[in-house]
Order: sequence, then structure tokens, then C-alpha cells
Amino acid sequence: MAPSTPDPTHYFDAEPSADSAEQTVELVLPDVQLELTTDRGTFSADRIDAGTKLLLLDGPPHTPADDVLVDLGAGYGPIALALAARNPGAEVWAVEINKRARALCARNATANGLANVRVVSPDEVPADLVVDRLWSNPPIRIGKAALHDLLSLWLERLGPTGSAHLVVQKHLGADSLHRWLESEGWAVKRRGSRKSFRLLDVASPESELSRNIP
Ligand SMILES: C[S@@+](CC[C@H](N)C(=O)[O-])C[C@H]1O[C@@H](n2cnc3c(N)ncnc32)[C@H](O)[C@@H]1O
Repeated sequence: MAPSTPDPTHYFDAEPSADSAEQTVELVLPDVQLELTTDRGTFSADRIDAGTKLLLLDGPPHTPADDVLVDLGAGYGPIALALAARNPGAEVWAVEINKRARALCARNATANGLANVRVVSPDEVPADLVVDRLWSNPPIRIGKAALHDLLSLWLERLGPTGSAHLVVQKHLGADSLHRWLESEGWAVKRRGSRKSFRLLDVASPESELSRNIP
């Protein structure tokens, strides 16, 4: 028997080569229920990722000043769309490198009646975008150096009272990421630690929020 060829597709490929096989998953939160179409070649196509769900359950509450929300690495959209449903007055930027995931995210926003989501590739982000809350289940698998560059780029886009909210698996380096962020001068708080995940709040040390992130 010929050895099986491993699927070379990564969820963070810009143009995944895996054949399409769409399916539907449900995001069920106490306050939001969404039906989302997923596909091969996108992150966690079979079910909502447990870390993503934890971030949405235990992340910070919205405050009236949060006008610009970003989901960095939006995939097919569970975080961006939940934020959009929870905060109809906010503008949610769903930033995603994977074209197939972007198309799904946009379709899922429309299918769920969410008009306040802007799905964009990293290249389409305006250079002067100022972010109130950055939410992310970040792409750890792109490698440490690339991840650090990506987070540095986005943390610099936080406004004076802005903050970032990350979920990272412990065994994928959550604690070393925490230390690295502090070594770069960011104020980091561990919001929670449940199952195999850490939730990290990140803000500039000058920010009032870094002392009292909601
Ligand atoms: C861990 S997945 C999370 C996906 C989705 N937010 C979820 O919770 O299901 C990280 C996502 O980041 C995307 N990504 C990787 N590099 C990126 C970059 N430079 N800019 C934006 N998104 C990126 C990947 O394609 C992937 O969809």
C-alpha cells in the first residue's frame, strides 16, 4: 500500500490548497448563538476551538468607549462575529491572511445579519487605524519570530486606553509569550487560566487600563 501523503495545507496559508469541504458549526454562548460555515484549510473547521470559546466567555466586557474592535486572525469569524453581535454600535475589523477564511467570515457575517464587520487582509488595514480592543486567538503555529513581529505591529496600534486580549495554550508557550511581552515593555495580566489555556490582557504601562483592565 502506498504511504498516505500528508495534507500540506496550513490554516495560515494565504491560499489554502486543500479541496473544499464546507460544513457548519455552532457557536453557543450564554448571550450569542451563531451558525458558522467552515471549510478545510481553515483553523478549527470541525468545531469552535476551545480557546476561542474561553476567550469569548471570560474576556473583558464591552465599555461604551470601545468603538474600534479588532479580531486579529479572524478565521471563519467566531470571535469577530460574536463581538459584532454583542456590540452593534462598534466597528469590528476581522483581519485574516487566509483568503478562504476571509470569504467564509464575510459570508458568515451576512448570514447572521451582522453589518458591522469589516473583513480585511493584513494589507488592507489602514496605516492609521487606532484600536480600542484587540481580541485574538493568535496564530502560534507561524513560529515565534513571526508571531512576535505580528503582535508588535498590532500592539503598536492600540490607542492610549486600548488593550489586547489573547488566548494561548499553555503547551504552545503561553507563559513564555507573557514574559516576552513584558520584556518588550507591555503591562500583562493573566486574566484567567482554565483547562489548558491562559487568557492574557495586554496594555501599555501608561494606560489606566493596564492598572484596571475591565
Ligand atoms: C489560531 S487561528 C484563530 C482563528 C479564529 N479567530 C478562531 O478563533 O477560530 C489564527 C488565525 O490567524 C491567521 N493569521 C496568520 N497570520 C496572520 C497575519 N499575519 N495576519 C492576520 N491573520 C493571520 C490564521 O490564518 C488563522 O486563521
